[in-house]
Amino acid sequence: MNVGDVPYRTIWLAGNGETVEIVDQTRLPHEFVTVPLDTLEDAAHAIRAMLVRGAPLIGATAAYGIALAMRDDASDPALEAAAATLAATRPTAVNLRWALDDMKAHLAPLPAAGRAEAAYARAAAICDEDVAICRAIGEHGLALIRAAYEANGRSRPVQVMTHCNAGWLATVDWGTATAPIYMAHDAGIPVHVWVDETRPRNQGAFLTAWELGGHGVDHTVIVDNAGGHLMQHGRVDLLITGTDRTAASGDVANKIGTYLKALAAADNGVPFYVALPGPTIDWTIMDGLRDIPIEERDPAEVTDIPGRAPDGSLTTVRITPASSPAANFAFDVTPARLVSGLITERGVCAASADGLLSLWPERRGRAAGTG
Ligand code: MRU
Repeated sequence: MNVGDVPYRTIWLAGNGETVEIVDQTRLPHEFVTVPLDTLEDAAHAIRAMLVRGAPLIGATAAYGIALAMRDDASDPALEAAAATLAATRPTAVNLRWALDDMKAHLAPLPAAGRAEAAYARAAAICDEDVAICRAIGEHGLALIRAAYEANGRSRPVQVMTHCNAGWLATVDWGTATAPIYMAHDAGIPVHVWVDETRPRNQGAFLTAWELGGHGVDHTVIVDNAGGHLMQHGRVDLLITGTDRTAASGDVANKIGTYLKALAAADNGVPFYVALPGPTIDWTIMDGLRDIPIEERDPAEVTDIPGRAPDGSLTTVRITPASSPAANFAFDVTPARLVSGLITERGVCAASADGLLSLWPERRGRAAGTG
């Protein structure tokens, strides 16, 4: 997508062909700053500290983290150690494990001398594949937005609600939840997006609002608790969110608060769609509530909030009593029964084992738990 008039992906190689560059998402929306990653530890830090975030981009960054590690030491132990370091950065998004498994499968059979070059090539391919996947998700999701526009007799903009940031900043380009929105906008379908602020890190208010604004998409930031009210009053046509891990049953883990949106959507008969690329499906588990690990982050993300001060500087202020403990659960799981459909690169399917298998027939006959 464009920043100003300049097209950007969220991760790319610098001119020297070896340094990886990213957008530091902790500085948005106030500053657009790109950061070089030169080492494995740079890549691990970028994921851990959420300079990059969002399931597909975490996977892409991990792939490049392996390439950076292979440049320094391409031995078998170094490959294993690099994968272990990166795997330990964040627990919920399964794209991380998927990318590391993919990289290891590509590199392990090669002689050490060829691994660094092959790692860069495979990481680049993972990025290109993610762009193609997100574009396809956009095309399938566009049909849903178009149908909503036809259903309202083309009388008013389609009202979409989203939670967190499953936009181009969370992927390599396009986004998952936002790809259908961008395509609808580009196709001339009027769309308005209700953007949940997404406490505590405010990915909606900081990132989704910034990207939608950058692309000229009409949107309004709302507090997280406003969604139910808007749905009760018929002001939401459909929800589209992303997911960090989708169980083989169709249960979806996503940013904390997604479950409450799904409950309100079900109570009000509003379709609740989840957009996801294939690498977000964890075929090894059937029970998302029991088996998806939920990240717990630093309580400081709840007690303190960053922003721009009146003098223009970026600052962080404390918003809770100094003596009050806080807890920071980063994700929750929405059971498949509350999901109206999964928007994937292979089409839209029911959020169920059968639905997913109808699009991934090659997975049939493999018991959950076998990967
Ligand atoms: O903690 P984050 O910002 O990495 O969480 C991101 C989300 O929850 C996204 O909705 C999800 O990763 C899907 S991104 C296409």
